[in-house]
Amino acid sequence: MKKLNIGIILGSTREGRLSPQVGEWVLRIAEERGDANYEIVDIADYKLPLLGEADASEQAAAWNTKLAELDGFVFIVQEYNHSISASLKNALDYAREAWNNKSAGIVSYGSVGGARAAEHLRGIMGELSIADVRVHPALSLFTDFENGSVFKPADLHLVNLNGMLDQVLAWGGALKTLREPAAAVL
Ligand SMILES: Cc1cc2nc3c(=O)[nH]c(=O)nc-3n(C[C@H](O)[C@H](O)[C@H](O)COP(=O)(O)O)c2cc1C
Repeated sequence: MKKLNIGIILGSTREGRLSPQVGEWVLRIAEERGDANYEIVDIADYKLPLLGEADASEQAAAWNTKLAELDGFVFIVQEYNHSISASLKNALDYAREAWNNKSAGIVSYGSVGGARAAEHLRGIMGELSIADVRVHPALSLFTDFENGSVFKPADLHLVNLNGMLDQVLAWGGALKTLREPAAAVL
């Protein structure tokens, strides 16, 4: 079977954001596994205005094209006022079919591991028919980032990161057979 394409989606677009450091860590560990095609997908590159505020057909088409190439996602989620960032919610709202029947894992961070944001994202994923997996590395702004700015994850997160990727690939492969029946192993 062909390797799955997994997008590691950076959920924040804030100047000075921490999400690229977290995304690069996920990418490095994922690539060492060699079991899928992993790539960073940076929402900031797509310059999506707030949905409905401006004619954004080109940006929306580019965003949907990228999502359509992917079989599963790892969301890098940061907690903003006990929820996900506005930029991630906006990017989620910009697509529908391109999200449907795919798997996703969450890597979150915040003062309590970004847990409240992660749970909000799970509710949104239900509406988008994204199958979110259970295992969830939750990083602390206090202990996994030196001075709140330099990412130095504790070793224990590796177990959850690999467990989460295992589940994203298992469900991602299964769901691909729904979208492309020819991909089913008969
Ligand atoms: C507007 C705003 C609201 C925030 N609210 C929370 C919060 O409710 N809980 C929390 O744990 N951290 C909160 N934070 C801290 C962020 O999680 C932290 O700054 C994180 O680094 C943001 O992710 P980013 O650097 O990738 O943008 C907030 C930060 C901002 C800017």
